[in-house]
Amino acid sequence: MYFQLKSYINFLLKSQNQHGLHSPFVYNLVTRCFYDTTEHSEYAQIKEFRNDLLRNKEIIEVEDFGAGSRVFNSNQRPVHAIAKNAGITLFRARLLARIVNYLKVKNALELGTSLGIASAAMAANRGTNLITIEGCKETAGIAQQQFDKFGFDNIDLRVDKIEYVISDLTGKFRPTTSKQKTSEKFDLIYFDGNHHKQATLEYFLKLLPLAHNDSVFIFDDIHWSAEMQEAWKEIKEHPQVRVSIDTYQWGLVFFRSEQVKEHFTIRV
Ligand SMILES: C[S@@+](CC[C@H](N)C(=O)[O-])C[C@H]1O[C@@H](n2cnc3c(N)ncnc32)[C@H](O)[C@@H]1O
Repeated sequence: MYFQLKSYINFLLKSQNQHGLHSPFVYNLVTRCFYDTTEHSEYAQIKEFRNDLLRNKEIIEVEDFGAGSRVFNSNQRPVHAIAKNAGITLFRARLLARIVNYLKVKNALELGTSLGIASAAMAANRGTNLITIEGCKETAGIAQQQFDKFGFDNIDLRVDKIEYVISDLTGKFRPTTSKQKTSEKFDLIYFDGNHHKQATLEYFLKLLPLAHNDSVFIFDDIHWSAEMQEAWKEIKEHPQVRVSIDTYQWGLVFFRSEQVKEHFTIRV
């Protein structure tokens, strides 16, 4: 707790809004997407999807993957409590939906589905195809029920370990000829599974070949722990990363080879 308070104060001291942003790409992203306050048509469905889970009193047996929970002691958990504690907030879900629209994301990948709230936010624009990965079978079962209930046939939920699905994807997507189409790569990857340094860096490096020049990688919880901060530092320093944006909860990286390497700390 003390660690998070300290890192948040540090963030506030360093962070800025749109003023003084010299990169047109980042200025437009911040003003037209991050700070866009208009009501988007996708918001109502994302809210209803999340509220439906918040009303669900069913108890499921959760298998712990990733960094575990700081909230739950038992593996028998009510769905509504998982939605509240492990799922993305409505504020962030809306931001994610705006990013998908603004960057015209066609192919997205999510590591860590949980009950599918962030998946719904990314797939609310039905022109986006999403592959999402969840290791816990009962959690994934509820997510799939929700996707069916809300008609998300653009979501492909893979119930398996993230590591295995990444091997599958990188094998399948590995470029074999120079004619490989960029559409076979991911426009957006949301990293929200295992929140450990080693796993985060491993996923990042393995998924790099599936990024194209205009892809964005979004890392959740970059200030959750000292080791996640270390992972974030290594990611933003990677030579292929040109633009990195720390929004406290999320770290976003872009690969735009035309741009000089620059780091931003921005309040959303
Ligand atoms: C923070 S939750 C995801 C929340 C979701 N993205 C959202 O915003 O609504 C992380 C999920 O990742 C899953 N997970 C973590 N590590 C995993 C792994 N190595 N393989 C498969 N699933 C994993 C956990 O079971 C958990 O449900």
